[in-house]
Amino acid sequence: MPIHVLDHPLIQHKITLLRDERTGSKDFRDLVSEIAAFMAYEAARDLPVEDVTVKTPLTTTIGKTMGCKKLALVPILRAGLGMVSGIEQLIPTAKIGHIGMYRNEKTLVPVVYFCKMPTDLAEREIFLLDPMLATGGSAVAAIKALCDRGVLLSNIKFLCLVAAPEGVKNLTEAYPDLCIYTASIDDHLNENGYIVPGLGDAGDRIFGTL
Ligand code: PRP
Ligand code: URA
Repeated sequence: MPIHVLDHPLIQHKITLLRDERTGSKDFRDLVSEIAAFMAYEAARDLPVEDVTVKTPLTTTIGKTMGCKKLALVPILRAGLGMVSGIEQLIPTAKIGHIGMYRNEKTLVPVVYFCKMPTDLAEREIFLLDPMLATGGSAVAAIKALCDRGVLLSNIKFLCLVAAPEGVKNLTEAYPDLCIYTASIDDHLNENGYIVPGLGDAGDRIFGTL
């Protein structure tokens, strides 16, 4: 299964700041957005390009454009929302779908409470966004929701900041061919379903609801 662990020093430096319990909401939000942009840069590496003619002040030449493949960003609410702004700045033409999901705190089973997607979703390359891959339940349910709407698995890339080995295993077993991008595979999940060492509750830290 294609899993890409992004070990670029800039990403790793920012992940360390994100983990730090002293990092407040504003800085946490900014870091999530910046790291997401770096990840999208990497995830976009194999997007198709096509030739276009461009007239420079000196001559006419052939350039490349990404216009041929449309992209959708799909954040898993809430925490995935924090990843949108950084990627949007890189790829402003991307449409944005939203999937609302929370984990039942006792069972950790994800519950979908909202799903609104671009109408041409099935024709788009999808970056599915969630900072945390813990048990993997939310990601598996979100991918199922996308596939139920006609998206090909080969058109989905899952971008997360921190993953637990348990989540990687579950997601990989459910979707062996899914492309996963993460900045870290951490040590383990604790008994409450939190990633250790992790960074705490991403949604609460992004939105200041601690
Ligand atoms: C967090 C996180 C993921 C999910 C990961 O969301 O943002 O969506 O948990 O856990 P899983 O891999 O075990 O499914 P949470 O349920 O805390 O909701 P929130 O984003 O609204 O805070
Ligand atoms: N969701 C979070 O926000 N953090 C974790 O560690 C696990 C799930």
